[in-house]
Parts: sequence; structure tokens; C-alpha cells
Amino acid sequence: MQVAVDGPAGSGKSTVCKRVAIDNNLMYLDTGAMYRSVAYLSLKFDRDKLLDILESVEFIFSDNGSKLSLKSYEEVEDVTDIIRSSEITAIVSTVSSDELIRKILTVKQQIIASSNDIIMEGRDITTVVLPNADVKIFLTASVEERAKRRYAEVQGVTDKSYDEILADIIKRDDVDSNRDIAPLVKSDDSHALDTTALTLDEVIFEIGKLIVEKRG
Ligand code: DC
Repeated sequence: MQVAVDGPAGSGKSTVCKRVAIDNNLMYLDTGAMYRSVAYLSLKFDRDKLLDILESVEFIFSDNGSKLSLKSYEEVEDVTDIIRSSEITAIVSTVSSDELIRKILTVKQQIIASSNDIIMEGRDITTVVLPNADVKIFLTASVEERAKRRYAEVQGVTDKSYDEILADIIKRDDVDSNRDIAPLVKSDDSHALDTTALTLDEVIFEIGKLIVEKRG
């Protein structure tokens, strides 16, 4: 069973997918965390070196996909917190516009999906990574609602104001949706789910229904 979920920043993908994964016995894969990790590595290595090591970097998810460690050259580094910093958030859209980086990560994601029942979330999962997924969902919410949720989520982590977070999201939406390679778009065969006025349980219920229908 492959469930592919795409949607813009702050649409609730991670929270929703983690719960759907547990309820339906699926592995959860957050591809945004993989792009964030590459953004983190890009602060340490120039592009050539980065591309060189990326092929062999292992992305080790644990704790139902909530934690992520990178293994390279036998060294394992827990990057769970650092990849959520505002420094990484500011550069991740640019790093993830790189065609070669996308190729490498896409292959890694497809390999993981080939041997697991999985729910995978990101920006190009329904269109590029798993175009033949059993269930495809495009999750969205109004930009104000998404900024509101992000603002509540990062209280105590950053001192950014609601307006700053709203501006960040608008900028990221623009880069993610208008890049040449694998932009965020809703595919014709994806179920659109606008979560603006829905509770978390309602969203989980809707997706669960689609999975159960598919499983028969
Ligand atoms: O889901 P997120 O906000 O943690 O993702 C971080 C960035 O990674 C996002 O701005 C776009 C990029 N991304 C991508 O280009 N393709 C994916 N499949 C997942 C994320």
C-alpha cells in the first residue's frame, strides 16, 4: 500500500500523516526532512562535495518517523532539531530546487517505498516520486490558517511574529510552486482536501476512509 500526500508548508501533512500511519499500520516518511537535511549539509560542504557524499548518506528515521539521523562515513548525527531551525528553513526551498539533489533523493525515496507499506509526504510525491500510489492526496489550507498553525507550533522555539511566519510561508509557497523541476502541483488523480475548517480527526478520518476503500 502506497499513500502519497503533497501540500504546501503548514498544511498539516506531518501531523496528519503520522497519525494515519499509526492507524493504518504504514511506515511514515517525511521527505521534507530529507530536503532539510541536505540544506543542513550544504552549510558544511560545497555543491560538488555535497553531491558526492549524498549518494552514500543514509537517512535513518526512528520514533515513527519523527526523528532523523544521518549516517555518512560511519558517523551518525541526530539532525532532528537542527533541521527545523530558521536558518535551515530559510535556505531549504533553494537547496531543494537543485535538479541533481532531487534526482538523488527521489531514487532513495522510491527504494524505501518499494519494500514498505508507506505513507509519504512532500511536494512531488503524487507527481514524481510515487505517481502510481494507491491513494493520492493534495492537502491544503488557507495561507492565513497555515501561518496560524505554524505560529502556534513554534512558540518557545523562535521569537518570530505571526506576520513574519506568514511572509515566510508566502515566499516558500512561491518558490515550491513555481520552480522548474518537480513543482508543487495538484495532480488530476489526487483527492483535494482543504483542511482550513476541518479538525485533525476529521482529516484523518477522510484519509483513512480512502485507504480502507482501496484495501477493500
Ligand atoms: O515539508 P517541509 O516544509 O519540511 O519541507 C521543506 C522544504 O523541502 C520545502 O520548502 C520544499 C522542499 N521539499 C521538496 O521540494 N520536495 C519534497 N518532496 C519535500 C519537501
